[in-house]
Amino acid sequence: MIQPIKAVFPGSFDPITNGHMDVLSRACKLFPEVTLAVLQNQRKASKNLFTIEERLEMLRKATEHLPNVRVEAFGGLLVEYMRERGATVILRGLRAVSDYEYELQIAHLNRQMNPDVETVFIMAATRWSYVSSSMVKEIASYGSKEVSKMVPPASAEALVKKFAEQQ
Ligand code: PNS
Repeated sequence: MIQPIKAVFPGSFDPITNGHMDVLSRACKLFPEVTLAVLQNQRKASKNLFTIEERLEMLRKATEHLPNVRVEAFGGLLVEYMRERGATVILRGLRAVSDYEYELQIAHLNRQMNPDVETVFIMAATRWSYVSSSMVKEIASYGSKEVSKMVPPASAEALVKKFAEQQ
């Protein structure tokens, strides 16, 4: 018998963008449970603008209208975290062909490490194909309010607060 599929959408989400939200909300119609799994990685920590606690709070606020979404932090290998949670689908978004090569390699590596895991890709809507967390941070760092068109309100508020603190 096919069990209800638990999907995990892993990422840095530093911050979550409208592209992520588009992929997530569409995945919520396909899977009964989708976990946003935020990478808590000491080595990458210095590259992140937001702390893990700030990202968890931002993601919880941004997804409170989506009843089948859970938000969690994870560390270590994604496939190990999925094994512990009984999840079998890794969800990733593709914006453009340039994302594909990296994503293909990771998908193969993850399946090599855990053959029970399948990676499912959702193509982000073309209107978000140019939006990335790093570009959003760059624009917000100059104090521009334009980012509010590219990220959910929870991310926009967190960006304004973060860059005000850094003044
Ligand atoms: O949002 P990102 O930074 O593109 O997400 C990358 C992420 C978190 C999916 C990837 O780095 C990851 O799964 N890291 C956990 C460590 C791991 O399992 N590595 C093996 C695959 S490279």
